[in-house]
Amino acid sequence: MLACSIQSFAQKFENLAPTPPMGWNSWNTFQTKISEKLVMETADMLVSSGMKDAGYTYLVLDDGWMSMQRDSKTGDLIADPEKFPHGMKAVSDYVHSKGLKFGLYNCAGTKTCAGYPGTRGYEYQDARLYASFGIDYLKFDWCNTDGINAKEAYTTMSKALKAAGRPIVFSLCEWGNNKPWEWAGNVGQLWRSTGDINNLFDGIKTYGTWHANGVMTIVDLQDTLRKYAGPNHWNDPDMLEVGNGMPLSEDRTHFSIWSMMAAPLIAGNDIRKMTKETQAILTDKEVIAIDQDVLGIQGFKYADQDSLQTWFKPLKNGDWAVCFLNRSSVPKRAHFNWKTESVTDDLNHISLNANTITYKVYNVWAKKEAGTTAKDISATILPHDVLLLRLSK
Ligand code: GLA
Repeated sequence: MLACSIQSFAQKFENLAPTPPMGWNSWNTFQTKISEKLVMETADMLVSSGMKDAGYTYLVLDDGWMSMQRDSKTGDLIADPEKFPHGMKAVSDYVHSKGLKFGLYNCAGTKTCAGYPGTRGYEYQDARLYASFGIDYLKFDWCNTDGINAKEAYTTMSKALKAAGRPIVFSLCEWGNNKPWEWAGNVGQLWRSTGDINNLFDGIKTYGTWHANGVMTIVDLQDTLRKYAGPNHWNDPDMLEVGNGMPLSEDRTHFSIWSMMAAPLIAGNDIRKMTKETQAILTDKEVIAIDQDVLGIQGFKYADQDSLQTWFKPLKNGDWAVCFLNRSSVPKRAHFNWKTESVTDDLNHISLNANTITYKVYNVWAKKEAGTTAKDISATILPHDVLLLRLSK
């Protein structure tokens, strides 16, 4: 009896994302040009590149995996037979055979953003189909939803997944339009907090009626949301653009700040062709450790002066991650006196106390010790670059 009543309160599957989900998604590079071959090669590469070992577990196919129509008799979604000649179960089995998890995409509306059949009215049927494919992750979009209430639509899909019985991470992709952080904590494991990202450091790119955000533009929209994030319920500032054409310094900054924000790390590049430098950024275990820290605290911006920002993130064992970020196009001098500054995470009541504790300072990207907090830090930060530090007791 007790188990039953707990079940009825706990809507989503428990503990599927104690740390921010990590994986790869097809959209940023391939849009709808996806195939069985791409999945298999990407799965192989996730393993051989060290990405799987670094934590990238989910291989997610975004929009474009379906045929244009549902099955006329059963109403089931059909995997595009040209792109996926062996069907989606075979693809899922291949991904699982590599020790990875598999994800798919659909949409709460009548059609997906790219015009494929949406889930509106088919929530329970589609959830059962996904469970039969053996998927582990569902990204659920928000196109073609006129007249639909977001909270109701996502709650219905969450319940449908639960009823289908297979634990599936539920990734809401509603772009923050209806403040999912206020109501989705028990609906899914992560929710997009903004519109789409682009391979642009700052600003907005416009494509006719549609626009996409630069990395820093998205960062600016996260500041007020940190209180909503934590284990099993994450703000999602969108998938990574690392390796998609920005200079290395910008890629490094993007990856650092996503980690400071405890963001899901979903690579969006063609990992079959990535350079050694891109691979090194994506698999940097010490940066990933900041993102994946068990406390699950989204970091905060402590200072923002003359385009030089200072970010802090409390970590386990009293450690801290610190990120000096130069948003400008000229070098900036960062100077920080650990003892006179007063850094407190008010939300979690954690203070950096360099007056009573001397922390060791480690330069994360340079991979070297950088003294202790007994001494001020002074450093030149190149344009669009970061100095990422880990302080430990
Ligand atoms: C929306 C989402 C993207 C991607 C596309 C697919 O724009 O925000 O992340 O899934 O749809 O059409």
